[in-house]
Amino acid sequence: MRPALTDADLGARLWFEEHMREAGLRVHEDAAANLIGRLDPPAGLADGPCIATGSHIDTVPHGGRFDGALGICAGLEAIRAIRESGLPIPCPFELLVFTDEEGSHFAGTFGSRAMFNLLAEGEIYRSRVAGQPSLAQSFQRIGKDPGQISQAVRSPSEFHAFLELHIEQGPVLDTMGIPIGIVEGIVYLDRYLIHVAGKPGHAGTTPMHLREDALVKAARIITGVNEAIISAGPNIVGTIGELKVHPGAFNIIPGRVEMSLDLRSMKETTLKSVKNTIREIVHSVDNARMEPILSKGGVQMDPGIMEAIEFSCRQRNVPFHRMWSGAGHDAMTFPTPGIPTGMIFIPCLEGKSHCPDEAIRWEGAALGAQILAETMMRIASSAESRQSSRAA
Ligand code: GLV
Ligand code: MN
Ligand code: MN
Repeated sequence: MRPALTDADLGARLWFEEHMREAGLRVHEDAAANLIGRLDPPAGLADGPCIATGSHIDTVPHGGRFDGALGICAGLEAIRAIRESGLPIPCPFELLVFTDEEGSHFAGTFGSRAMFNLLAEGEIYRSRVAGQPSLAQSFQRIGKDPGQISQAVRSPSEFHAFLELHIEQGPVLDTMGIPIGIVEGIVYLDRYLIHVAGKPGHAGTTPMHLREDALVKAARIITGVNEAIISAGPNIVGTIGELKVHPGAFNIIPGRVEMSLDLRSMKETTLKSVKNTIREIVHSVDNARMEPILSKGGVQMDPGIMEAIEFSCRQRNVPFHRMWSGAGHDAMTFPTPGIPTGMIFIPCLEGKSHCPDEAIRWEGAALGAQILAETMMRIASSAESRQSSRAA
């Protein structure tokens, strides 16, 4: 397990950085701790916009081996193959390894949002779970200045396109027996903290009718929220996955509970109406409140990039399936500043993800990396021909 900026994550980053250098990339770490590896084209084209690919190296607690890691390894392999192919390199290629995609500090997709100035005011100074470090604290621990994070901001004009390869993290492709998913869009995703206050007291001496137990109130909220989401139908999912009970002891009535809520839907209207119902449920409980910490709009992938991925599949006679992503990704960030974005999925066995059983077929990963490389080259060539026809 490699929660962002822990020793395990830092070790993996060092290991990967070495591999990026070995593959001939120029590597640097930006002010948000994103690792950036660049393959430069011949002089003259070196300053033009790049085609970037990437994902993340951090994991959720007790997560699997492929969520994020597959995307950066496939990206490295794609760029290495492009370099070794002997084909002319028409534009810079970048491999981006983003910091804290999983949100172990606060809200998730930190590195990519930092790159496009999309962080919320003060979020780097907050930690979602009491006792855990904030991003600012983790930065200080590794000798980075959190006050400099804005130096990571880049102009969208530096990018022709962004592509991310990822395991699907759900069962659709594996069940259908289809090796490639072409992502059409990524769900709307809202995250909240729910704070519930009660009265701490002695667990042995306080009669039941005189208690205000924060955990009992939280339990009411959890079942209410779950029922509200189920009754809204199949277009929405929601999870309360993290619970902190204060002070947390056998013999103390819980005085305070903090919990996370993650809500996702492909339909903005469904998300809005369920969110309103949940707010009513929370507010119907004394001393409970709901604090928004992240709201990411559903994003569409670029039609031209989807076609380029489809073209590679057709050329290779590879079955593909167009689909939405229910998981969040750094690829959600790039459409906001207007950068054409695409995602390639490969199946994960039985759809298992965010658990130690996450698994893939190696030939599926190889195919995904080949399609990624071909798509990057195809986009690069069409960008180059657009530029030369403009210059003519
Ligand atoms: C990232 O894996 C997410 O969807 O939460
Ligand atoms: Mn994940
Ligand atoms: Mn991921």
